[in-house]
Amino acid sequence: MPFRSNVNKYGAALAVLLCAAALGAWAHPPNILNPHGYVALAESNLFWFILIIATTVFVLVMSFFVYSIIRFRARPGAPEPVQRHGNSALELAWTIVPTVVLMGVLGTTIYTLLYAIQQPTNVPTITVDAIGHQWWWEFKYPNANVTTADELHVPINTVIHVNLISDNVIHSFWIPDLAGKTDVIPGHDNYMWFKSDTPGAYRGECSEFCGTQHANMNFEVVVESQSAYDAWVANQQLPAATPTSALAIQGAALFASKTCIGCHVINVKGVPASHLIGPNLTHFGSRQLIAGGVLDNNPQNLATYLRNPQAVKNGIDMPDLNLTQSEIDALVAYLDSLK
Ligand code: CUA
Repeated sequence: MPFRSNVNKYGAALAVLLCAAALGAWAHPPNILNPHGYVALAESNLFWFILIIATTVFVLVMSFFVYSIIRFRARPGAPEPVQRHGNSALELAWTIVPTVVLMGVLGTTIYTLLYAIQQPTNVPTITVDAIGHQWWWEFKYPNANVTTADELHVPINTVIHVNLISDNVIHSFWIPDLAGKTDVIPGHDNYMWFKSDTPGAYRGECSEFCGTQHANMNFEVVVESQSAYDAWVANQQLPAATPTSALAIQGAALFASKTCIGCHVINVKGVPASHLIGPNLTHFGSRQLIAGGVLDNNPQNLATYLRNPQAVKNGIDMPDLNLTQSEIDALVAYLDSLK
């Protein structure tokens, strides 16, 4: 059956390709069953608790069922089976036992819900604004005067209070390894919190359909030591680096003369911009990801993106600026110099 085996072969290859594409740049594929945060741990514990109970009930019920089918099957000449209608003991048992089991599931679920909602107090806390755009995440640290995109840095063993903000459509903020999904709703203040004691880079994503590029609205959460985090914040607070190479200087001039500054800001004087259409690029070169977490930040990918952003991410606000190769080279040199 050559057709069948080809289908299997191509099906397997496609599945591998899809998984590879989905997980591509991520050294640490997200996994809700391998939690690295307190909220995610509580949620995965709830999952396992319910799975174990459901599996036990399933196995017990199916065992009785199969046993009864075989043991009490119709046989030639067998007498009429004993009738059990109105057996109070049995009816009480199959009412009380499931009630107790389901109350256990309900109680554990409510406990986990309250845990996920109630942010711990009296522990070190930082506040971050996560702003859902179509289609990328902007991160503001209101107490540190830092604005960035695609990458959220947080210290370990600290409660991260995330204000969830949208002025467009409904998004959903999800870091599978660290905490479950919370909707980001225009006109409605929402928040979530998470805390992790395991340094690492964790993938985040949007999990509410929000338009054509919903699937490409990713970000990275970098959980790091307090000293690494402090160093990151101190660097982000600096004004943009002054370009030194001839190519980068040319790129800076292009950035100001092309329409880039209509949407993007590079804080050359350290003054945060109040309103942006596109990501703040002041420390663009320090980021691992670009284009809403779709591409690794390297010169080749940035050049591909600048050549025609719509070809990389169809439907986004950034237009094809018809840049020449030398203009692209200059802009790449400038943007990559903004560490
Ligand atoms: Cu934003 Cu889906």
